[in-house]
Amino acid sequence: MAYNIGLLGLGTVGAGTVDILLNPEGRHPLLGDLNLYRVGVRDLNKPRAVKLPDELLTTDLEAIVSDEAVDIVVELIGGLEPARSLILQAIAHGKHVVTANKAVISRYGDEIYDAANAAGVYVMLEAAVGGGIPVINPLKQALGVNRIQSVIGIINGTTNYILSRMQQEGSDFGEVLVDAQSLGYAEADPTADVDGWDAADKIAILAALAFGGRVKREEVHCEGIRSISAADISYAQKLGFRIKLLAIARRDPSPDAIDHLQIRVHPTLVPLSHPLASINGVFNAILVEGDPIGPVMFYGQGAGAGPTASAVTSDIINIAAILKTETEPIPHPLLSCTHQHYCTLTRVEELESRFYIRLIAKDRPKVIGHLGMIFGEHGVSLESVVQIGFREDLAEIVIVTHETREGNFREALAEVEDLEEIDTVPSVIRVL
Ligand code: NAP
Ligand code: HSE
Repeated sequence: MAYNIGLLGLGTVGAGTVDILLNPEGRHPLLGDLNLYRVGVRDLNKPRAVKLPDELLTTDLEAIVSDEAVDIVVELIGGLEPARSLILQAIAHGKHVVTANKAVISRYGDEIYDAANAAGVYVMLEAAVGGGIPVINPLKQALGVNRIQSVIGIINGTTNYILSRMQQEGSDFGEVLVDAQSLGYAEADPTADVDGWDAADKIAILAALAFGGRVKREEVHCEGIRSISAADISYAQKLGFRIKLLAIARRDPSPDAIDHLQIRVHPTLVPLSHPLASINGVFNAILVEGDPIGPVMFYGQGAGAGPTASAVTSDIINIAAILKTETEPIPHPLLSCTHQHYCTLTRVEELESRFYIRLIAKDRPKVIGHLGMIFGEHGVSLESVVQIGFREDLAEIVIVTHETREGNFREALAEVEDLEEIDTVPSVIRVL
């Protein structure tokens, strides 16, 4: 049984999604049940990252969402309108919907979910928060039995990239923003990102799921990072903090405030020991605390064609799985174990890795030369060799290799251990 996909948008995420749909090998077998039926764009003549047959493309998006043959509408055009209207029309025509559109869901989620519930269709939005990071479905499913106490995230990659570079380079906001725009990390109009609106959309969605109640997006307190200076970052560093744009949602602890949530987005000094302090660059991370599970952290790429398409396509196969089990009396393909064959595991000698080795050697000429020669003869290239200390007439040497086949490395190491000038080899550790 094939399920027809009506895709709205063939930009960054749309193209990434098509790439997964058209290349199902080695991925979940349910992808084989999906058929890319029609793709809606604004401009038929635009050069595309993916080449599709002309007959698949159309500028008539309303025709896609009302086409009887379409089973699942995937909305990847972004913005408020016509995205909102197209989603509502798709629902009215009995289509399931997958969207990455946090702006629409955070503002019109109530209208959209009321319509979907009435029509008996699903609206899935894994890609709307955290790009490729699976956090929506875990909140709905695996974490669903917990009483969630807080959701705290770095959920905007652009601002985290800018703050990380300000931290590393001691630069001011303005100069890093200009550079981030020229490198394509920040949009030409960066307002939604740097003023915190994008993060506010996302935390409103996460809070609604975590705390089981609708959230009015316009009530979310929101401050951006434009006022953060190099001096702030430097002082914060001296005091043991990193400055991060955090999106925070908590249940209000006061006993007379049942069902009250604290939701806000603002720059925050995060203690260096906190797990979110070390999230750098365009990466996102979301820390969820629940009872009884305790802290759980989700980390990964919060944007980009591939990661976001991964989340979009996971929603598509979730819907396909539901459609399939409704029509065929088979176990739910995503919840049951369907594997029956054994995989072949690679022998450890064949694995490729870098290695850290700490050696104690006699402190005399040619020792490092001998080591380099032996490793080189076995095809093991050395990335760094450092003599880091002395013990009487012995020297402590640390070597890090480049990536190498483990079998070659072990043969070389056996020869090294036999060298007369090597006293001991206290540590050999693989390096990621
Ligand atoms: P994009 O690159 O700008 O692509 C938008 C696509 O939609 C284009 O193909 C465009 O057609 C089409 N489109 C836009 N308005 C249209 C209209 N009125 N009629 C017909 N077609 C229209 O956007 P994107 O970056 O892929 O983002 C898509 C969605 O994913 C947004 O909701 C965004 O917030 C969300 N998202 C994006 C990322 C990311 O990394 N980019 C990450 C997470 C979530 P043309 O190509 O003909 O112009
Ligand atoms: N503009 C967003 C960000 C893209 O910088 O994180 C993903 O929603």
